[in-house]
This record gives sequence, structure tokens and C-alpha cells, in this order.
Amino acid sequence: MTSSKRLTIAMQKSGRLSDDTQALLKRCGLKLNLQDRRLLAHVANMPIDIMRVRSSDIPGLVMDGVCDIGIVGDNTLEEAALERKLLGSNCEYIRTKGLNFGGCRLSLAMPEEFNYQGIESLNGLRFATTYPQLLKRYAQENNIDIDFCLLKGSVEVAPRVGLADGICDLVSTGATLEANGLKEVEVIYRSTAALIQNPTPLSGEKQEIFDTLLQRMQGVMKAKE
Ligand code: PRP
Ligand code: MG
Repeated sequence: MTSSKRLTIAMQKSGRLSDDTQALLKRCGLKLNLQDRRLLAHVANMPIDIMRVRSSDIPGLVMDGVCDIGIVGDNTLEEAALERKLLGSNCEYIRTKGLNFGGCRLSLAMPEEFNYQGIESLNGLRFATTYPQLLKRYAQENNIDIDFCLLKGSVEVAPRVGLADGICDLVSTGATLEANGLKEVEVIYRSTAALIQNPTPLSGEKQEIFDTLLQRMQGVMKAKE
């Protein structure tokens, strides 16, 4: 559990959300000196520590109370919450605020030549994905029976090498799908970046820091509208 008087924020070290997250925190007035290999950074002008980690670790760090708050994509958050629930680990969190970046969708995509005739035509097929829980939930809700294999990245390569019939992965511009001869056939989840917090109430001091930060975020996001 976090015990210091400094508010601890988990953010993605590198990847889709890291630049925008860093820019948001800077616009909120946090003096960040993030060096590539330094994974725990003290904010110079506020009692805040920044923990830079893999995005898939952020939900668990917040749910377990290692970090007070986190900035993470809804896709990663929901996948982690479903998986942790299944394993009987802490899976409670508060989604304090949706953020105005990191918009993407989690979609099913098939090779361009696939004859898609509605989701029933996916029955019995195998999908490569980084999001097995979200995919399983979608399949259950839609009464289709599909198989999956787990890939942590470069998911779009799977159909071409015979690892899977299709994929379930994030789409933002659609450029990666196109470059790999795939077409989007169903959107199964829409996501943006979100600010999350551990459900245990913060100490008075930390709550004050958090309130200041939230107020500034509100201002920064309004100015961007
Ligand atoms: C992400 C995601 C998609 C792609 C979507 O991958 O997994 O592959 O971006 O973006 P687009 O629709 O704009 O092309 P990323 O490049 O982060 O690499 P990874 O999957 O290997 O981690
Ligand atoms: Mg990818």
C-alpha cells in the first residue's frame, strides 16, 4: 500500500498513451524530469511521484493500492479487471475521469478476401489477440463459438503466417490493418484513456493534491476543446 505523503501516479512508460499522458501532466504544471531508464520519478514542484510501467500493469498496481491513481486505456483496464476477477484478485477501482486522448476501438478483422456475412460466419474460427477476456465476453454475449491465441503485439501478422483465421486488436487509423491485408468486420469495444483511482479513500493530504490535479486537468481539457 502507498504510505508516503506523496501521491503516486502510474503511467505508461512507452507506447500509445505515453506522450499524451506526459503532455497532460506537464500542462497541469507538473515539473517532470523523465529520464528513459528511471522508472520512479519525483515531481519537483508537487508532492507527486510518477511510476513508469507497462500499460498492462497499471490496473493491477492501482487495484492493489501500490499506486494511488493511474492513467490507462479503457481497453487495458477492462481486460485486466475481467482477468483479475477470474483469478480472484483485487479488481475494484474508480474510473474517475475519461480523458480526451488515446481514442481507439477493439475490433475483429479478417483477411480482405474473407467472405464476411455477419458474426455467425466467424463461428469455429481462431483469433489472435492481446485481449482474450474482452473477446471471450463478446463471443458469449453474441452466442458465437470461437477460439483464440494470445499475442502480446504485432497481432496483425497472425493470419498471414497461419497462426489464426482473424484477429481481435486495437484499431486507430486503420493503417496497420490495411498494411497487413486485413479488413475490420466488427467493433467490439470503444476506448479512450482514463484516469483511475484505488477505491480506498486517500489521506487528507493526498486528497488535496489529487483535487488540485483534477481541477487542473479539467482546465487543460476544457482549453483543448
Ligand atoms: C497498436 C495496435 C494496432 C495499431 C493500431 O499497435 O495494437 O496494431 O497500433 O493503430 P493504427 O490503426 O493507427 O494502425 P502498436 O503499433 O502499438 O504495436 P504492438 O501491437 O506491436 O504493440
Ligand atoms: Mg499492434
